[in-house]
Amino acid sequence: MTLTPVLSAHWDEPDAFTIDGYRRHGGYGALDTAFGMHPDEVIQAVKDSGLRGRGGAGFPTGMKWGFIPQGDGKPHYLVVNADESEPGTCKDIPLMMASPHTLVEGVIIASYAIRANHAFIYIRGETVHVARRLMAAVREAYAAGHLGTNIHGTGYDLELVVHIGAGAYICGEETALLDSLEGFRGQPRLRPPFPAVAGLYAAPTVVNNVESIASVPQIIANGPEWFASFGTEKSKGYTLFSLSGHVTKPGQYEAPLGVTMRELLELAGGVRAGHELKFWTPGGSSTPLLTAEHLDVPLDYEGVGEAGSMLGTKALQVFDETVSVVRSVLRWTEFYAHESCGKCTPCREGTYWLVQVLRRIEAGHGTEADIAKLLDLCDNILGRAFCALGDGATSPITSGIQYFHDEFVAGMHTPAWELFPPERSTVWADLTAGASA
Ligand SMILES: Cc1cc2nc3c(=O)[nH]c(=O)nc-3n(C[C@H](O)[C@H](O)[C@H](O)COP(=O)(O)O)c2cc1C
Ligand code: SF4
Repeated sequence: MTLTPVLSAHWDEPDAFTIDGYRRHGGYGALDTAFGMHPDEVIQAVKDSGLRGRGGAGFPTGMKWGFIPQGDGKPHYLVVNADESEPGTCKDIPLMMASPHTLVEGVIIASYAIRANHAFIYIRGETVHVARRLMAAVREAYAAGHLGTNIHGTGYDLELVVHIGAGAYICGEETALLDSLEGFRGQPRLRPPFPAVAGLYAAPTVVNNVESIASVPQIIANGPEWFASFGTEKSKGYTLFSLSGHVTKPGQYEAPLGVTMRELLELAGGVRAGHELKFWTPGGSSTPLLTAEHLDVPLDYEGVGEAGSMLGTKALQVFDETVSVVRSVLRWTEFYAHESCGKCTPCREGTYWLVQVLRRIEAGHGTEADIAKLLDLCDNILGRAFCALGDGATSPITSGIQYFHDEFVAGMHTPAWELFPPERSTVWADLTAGASA
């Protein structure tokens, strides 16, 4: 299996982020192709490509666009979800830094298809450098006549606004994002109605992930069959796999869906020298952990689902044998407890109590009943929480107990930091050796 750099093809060029750098490789060429098509044909092309949302759930993108009612007399909106904050997930930010015009061109084509005259990119506030780069790209696109009124002389108008959020994981949940964009506190909305019917300002709205929208120009430029020739039967195309953690060469690996973790690890130089794989996440911290026995699972929506996890955001976090599962799971759970928006009781209270129990186990003060208590708490959150943040919070815990039960049992008498002492860096070892000499 070889890599298929398409989105990331020119990231290493020094001016890849400028409009000239983007145009050099045909950038903004797909726009005229799209304008030569009826908007419904653009939607059909995206349907035919088999593109599925890259934000986590894998919902078919063209089908989502097709849900927008046409001829309803209401404004339509496209909102790009650039909130990227799931632990381990790190693909949209590099994409926007290295090639923001790919996203801008995708926004214009998608907006044209759903007949929207206003589009928004909602980006997290902490990533100021990314927001600045994106805003510079939007300015360039306006100056070049790709945005604004009467784009390319077609009579089509589009305003694109980059909106900087205040920084909250829950604002990546699409309905919380819409509330935040409207100026309210970001908390999920009750569905139905779904955003396609009543989204931003109660008007039909498409919310899509950065990578989903950035994939559109190449689909239009090369045709849906070309895109569908990559990947597997139900998970078409190529995508960004983000390898991080205890891997020799961490980074973005763009490959067809269906590639295996074993193949990607090989391309990334394997687990760091002298160590072996203990566990990994296929798609961020909200997707159940997998182990070395899952190295040959095809990384597509179906394959990972059958293995008991989810493809999620394709954030492949690698952990070797020096890592305590209990400690990792606790850190993730602290994140969920901190980011819980507080709207519903199972998640607000449940994540708090999960942290208390896990801290006890990490400190070696767990009790016989604690593992059952963790599972019971998870059972009361999963499927009962108002949004998927609560469900996701249970994934590392239940899968951690499933594969590493003994480590949780050991937490009844031995602290995790004794079972897995934190590693000292070489610099630290040198310094301490010098001090004792
Ligand atoms: C707590 C939470 C956080 C999320 N964060 C993001 C995010 O940062 N980016 C994203 O694209 N989707 C995120 N999602 C998924 C979105 O709700 C939504 O499904 C997605 O933006 C749809 O785009 P897609 O169909 O292109 O994947 C999150 C979901 C939840 C429950
Ligand atoms: S599950 Fe958590 S984040 Fe989602 S609505 Fe309930 S409290 Fe808020």
